[in-house]
Amino acid sequence: MHPHIERILFSQEQIAQRNREMGRVITEVYGSKVGDQGIVLVSVLRGAAIFMADLARCIDLPVEMDYMAVSSYGNAATSSGRVRVLKDLSTDISGRHVVIAEDVLDSGLTLQHLLSMLQARGPASLEVVALLRKDVPGQIDIPLFQTGFACPNEFVVGYGLDYAERYRNLPYVGVLKPEIYM
Ligand code: IMP
Ligand code: MG
Repeated sequence: MHPHIERILFSQEQIAQRNREMGRVITEVYGSKVGDQGIVLVSVLRGAAIFMADLARCIDLPVEMDYMAVSSYGNAATSSGRVRVLKDLSTDISGRHVVIAEDVLDSGLTLQHLLSMLQARGPASLEVVALLRKDVPGQIDIPLFQTGFACPNEFVVGYGLDYAERYRNLPYVGVLKPEIYM
């Protein structure tokens, strides 16, 4: 285990197993309605890129992958409350079945903004799959098509999630030792 990690919450094996389950559900639910056109998987950079890459390989349908970047935490470990689009999709999602793969639902601000923005482009459907849903008071009620894991309200890193752009490459999700960000 990395010396900056206090404890592992979700192991590499647990995540891989859960991705296979969620991929199977996506394949079943969308299989009958999307046909040749398949789905558009959208990930929010940079945190969700690793999750989307793994989830995509668990889906047995035609899958397009596209990326957005929105501003979030910066280098701080608390939410700024601001959401700004830094990079937009390259795909025209009008009439398409869109699934957003998100790393973690925390306050819900990011997804709330993203959903209303993408909904306005007229997708055939728009759903969210989140690897983690944090248990935080006052979280915006975002309907999730699937959730990987319920996550305690602690600052976590790994499997795409960073602190100051580090730890994204850890293969598990773990709690960062508070002395690292205090
Ligand atoms: P929200 O808008 O508060 O829901 O925040 C969502 C974004 O904040 C996520 O996509 C992450 O990029 C980031 N974030 C939230 N919690 C954590 C965490 O515990 N570790 C690392 N990044 C986080
Ligand atoms: Mg993110």
